[in-house]
Amino acid sequence: MNSDLRATARELVSPGKGILAADETVPTLTKRFDALGISSTPSSRRDYRELLITAPGAAEFLSGVIMYDETIRQQSADGTPLVRVCRSAGILPGIKVDLGAKPLAGSPAEKVTEGLDGLRERLKEYREMGAAFAKWRAVITVSDVFPTNACIAANAHALARYAALCQEQDIVPIVEPEVLMDGKHTIERCEEVTGRVLQAVFAALFEQGVSLEAMVLKPNMVVAGAASPQETSVEEVATTTLHCLRQHVPPAVPGIAFLSGGQHDVLATRHLNAINRADGPKPWALTFSYGRALQDAALTTWRGKPENVSAAKQQLYHRVRCNSLAAQGSYTQAEEEKVHAEALAGVAGGWDDD
Ligand code: 13P
Repeated sequence: MNSDLRATARELVSPGKGILAADETVPTLTKRFDALGISSTPSSRRDYRELLITAPGAAEFLSGVIMYDETIRQQSADGTPLVRVCRSAGILPGIKVDLGAKPLAGSPAEKVTEGLDGLRERLKEYREMGAAFAKWRAVITVSDVFPTNACIAANAHALARYAALCQEQDIVPIVEPEVLMDGKHTIERCEEVTGRVLQAVFAALFEQGVSLEAMVLKPNMVVAGAASPQETSVEEVATTTLHCLRQHVPPAVPGIAFLSGGQHDVLATRHLNAINRADGPKPWALTFSYGRALQDAALTTWRGKPENVSAAKQQLYHRVRCNSLAAQGSYTQAEEEKVHAEALAGVAGGWDDD
């Protein structure tokens, strides 16, 4: 295996840097746009992605941007390929390569992520376009009876085959097993399920010969379900998340870049900060790879209007800067308050089937 791949994985999680997930599928981004009355066309989606990538100052805190197939083929308003816009800013371009979570045969309320057929050829093409890393998201539903072992095993196997193919094609895989926040479960139940999932994922990665030094893990934080009556403190989320990761994630993995999973943007930043401040060993870099928790304020500010572009860019800059501080355990309320609170109001809605 190419040593550059290990260097790229480390670069993705270098100190004070994180990843912007801007890889919503067309249906998901259209739903977000619809909620704000923005018309969703290839060019409005391009404008939005260009706005995010070119926010002044943001590149200082971003190691990578995850794109969707449509975006990686697009050019900026002045005709520069967006991949080149990223590279010129010092941001590594990444690509979502899974084809979505589909009902699992035998347990159709659960999902298995598809997209392995033809993946080698698609990775080759993305590599030629300039992609340095890829993402594959598995989704795990929690209830009293879910997840089944079948769901965990099928998703772990697919993640591992995806990761092996990425490394074969000189692309760093981001391995994303997401235990969903939906539901009434407790934080203890989330820890149990997240632990089972991570254990299965690392067993599958080992079986498929994946180099742990040349990948990045993108897990959920360990939190109570969104509909749970349980109240948990920021510190409790931090210590429980770290406990779970220490039990199940080998130290050879250079970094863990969390998804935000529907957490309010400021809370996602506070959780990351607390994780980095907590006591005890942390053999991996701990940073962000947020979608909604980075984009919500920028999108609600933009609303599809050219006159709002500059204010929307400032919102993105603010959030990536706050999360960069959190990735170093030095985020404070004072830093947060540098931007007017109402501009930080979130947008409702999830990632659906992405
Ligand atoms: P969220 O941070 O909105 O969960 O998105 C991250 C992501 O990449 C989902 O696959």
